[in-house]
Amino acid sequence: MNPAQRAADLFRASFASAPAAIASAPGRVNLIGEHVDYHGGHVLPAATLERTAVAVGPGGGRLRAVSERAERLEADWPPAASGRWSDYPAGVGELMRKDAAVLADGLAVAVASDVPLAMGLSSSAALEVATAAAIAAWAGTPRSARDLAEIGWRAENEFVGMPCGLMDQIASALGSAGSALLLDCRSLEMHPVPVGVDLVLVDSGEPRALRDSRYGERRREGAEALALLRPEFPALLCLVDLPPARLGTILRRLPAPLDRRVKHVVNENQRTVLAARALESGDHAAFGTLVNASHNSLRDLYECSTPRLDAIVAAARALPRVLGARLVGAGWGGAVLVVAEPGAGGMVVDLLRADRALALPEVRLVRPGAGVRGEVS
Ligand code: GLA
Repeated sequence: MNPAQRAADLFRASFASAPAAIASAPGRVNLIGEHVDYHGGHVLPAATLERTAVAVGPGGGRLRAVSERAERLEADWPPAASGRWSDYPAGVGELMRKDAAVLADGLAVAVASDVPLAMGLSSSAALEVATAAAIAAWAGTPRSARDLAEIGWRAENEFVGMPCGLMDQIASALGSAGSALLLDCRSLEMHPVPVGVDLVLVDSGEPRALRDSRYGERRREGAEALALLRPEFPALLCLVDLPPARLGTILRRLPAPLDRRVKHVVNENQRTVLAARALESGDHAAFGTLVNASHNSLRDLYECSTPRLDAIVAAARALPRVLGARLVGAGWGGAVLVVAEPGAGGMVVDLLRADRALALPEVRLVRPGAGVRGEVS
């Protein structure tokens, strides 16, 4: 059964009525362009084939949330952040409450998902975007995919309290099958880029305990660097606007580690644009080289890798027909993306699974899927 059917069944079984609406949204994998979305840079995410479905309906004055893979929760309505999984749909509901009269009587949600957890696939963005689409359908006020992405992003920043960039929600809302999206995170201009290579995702099994605090620290460092550079560049809004040709001189004026952070951001932004061009022209080897450079920069300059992620990357790079490998997502644990020649992904999955020394909890092929959609209840 697909997630939409399972979400509908779970809703009926849990709340003894049919859902008012159902929608589903995919996870995402970012091919390249890491830690640049919140600096207004370019990213190249693809939506996944795996989707999360959310069925919604009246909550009888409460927030009621059930999921196939998490505990059942019930709380007051309007909701307050609780630190539990229901914060994702609750945050979306809270943001949409003013415009969606249907939410006056609380919110019941049932969630079913094929998006693996803890693999850097942004299961949270999938949940937010699907919830926003389901509520919009229920309220009879259709929203553009871009609006749905923004609602999800605001819920994550304002309600959940994770200061993420817009990449995950945009990819989940606007992904197109077979393609990645080259997204300019400042103008939100985007265009599809055919993926053409095989993508293998590797779960490191490493807990991401430090992730949230370190992510916030990197964002503060970025703001600090901007403030230090502003006297010289009064019009500077984003780090990605620094002129690459003068980067050497600029970096010498910044204290460590801000110089390293800025160098990563400016170069990673350029690499992403080049990587999209490489995919468009079918230059897979060049794409792989850029993916490798991305990891090295995340490891040495942005310092968000771990020894285990580095070991997985090194092992993957040594395999036949692998074009490149890098940590994917925020880092500090999580997952590694391995890029393989077209048709070689299955073999690379087998080889990595067979690597006893690495003992990887999960290795799987990822294929670019389509973005958010309404589902028939
Ligand atoms: C997390 C965030 C994204 C992005 C990446 C790093 O996945 O949710 O917005 O910043 O980290 O590229």
